[in-house]
Amino acid sequence: MKSNWTIGIIGGSGLYQMDALEDAQWISIDTPWGKPSDDVLCGRIGAVQVRFLPRHGRGHRIPPSAVNARANIDALKRAGCTDVLAISAVGSLQEELEPGRFVVVDQFIDRTRGRDSSFFGTGMVAHVSMAEPVCERMAGFAAAAVENAGGKVARGGTYLAMEGPQFSTRAESLLYRQWGADVIGMTAMPEAKLAREAELPYALVGMVTDYDCWREDAAFVEVSDVIAQMEANGTIARKAVEQFMAALPEKRGPSPLDTVLDHALITSPDARDPAM
Ligand code: ADE
Repeated sequence: MKSNWTIGIIGGSGLYQMDALEDAQWISIDTPWGKPSDDVLCGRIGAVQVRFLPRHGRGHRIPPSAVNARANIDALKRAGCTDVLAISAVGSLQEELEPGRFVVVDQFIDRTRGRDSSFFGTGMVAHVSMAEPVCERMAGFAAAAVENAGGKVARGGTYLAMEGPQFSTRAESLLYRQWGADVIGMTAMPEAKLAREAELPYALVGMVTDYDCWREDAAFVEVSDVIAQMEANGTIARKAVEQFMAALPEKRGPSPLDTVLDHALITSPDARDPAM
């Protein structure tokens, strides 16, 4: 039976080496927003079509500030994705979210600067709601999949998106804790905002690699620790992606996020007063 889900996955390099991915082919996709981070790996897992995009490019060539999130989201839309599952390394701002933990994020604080964060702005302006920034349905499937893959999951958590590429100062890290942030990363914004504008239901699984630097007693973030933890998490993440696809209901019912622009505040050139 053919499925009507096409799942876009934005994640790290380790994820596309997945035995379960069948008929896999790298496809180059051009967008009006420029080049995406890489070609898109198109294939299927069981009955579900999968489109995988390495966020930093194969070989991790692109730093967080230079990721062209508009091109990435647009490429996935053009590749026919119905929904997007994003996977990302994060630092922890909470004691109970230890390295190795998977956090299915449900809120964001965006502290990125100077990134192109909207498809709208020249000619047409649109204001979409970001009050509930992730798709509850996708987040629920993602949490269950990680658990089935043997991962420890926190359901819900606030992701603070920082500009980077430097890690935070201790004062910043302590401030973000006061703000109620649970995890910190450099990549999920403006990705999540753009997915919303593109009417792509989006969920984010954060893989905790370190405790950031707020703990006086702990070592600072060491890149080698982050990489070692990412590799350890990678095995579970790959399994989780397989579980995710296997557990999707046969038929995708509509999501309210498929039609957000119908409810957005939009001004178009057509609405301009001709006398002006
Ligand atoms: N990605 C992984 N760990 C991080 C941290 N501590 N801060 C920002 N991004 C991260």
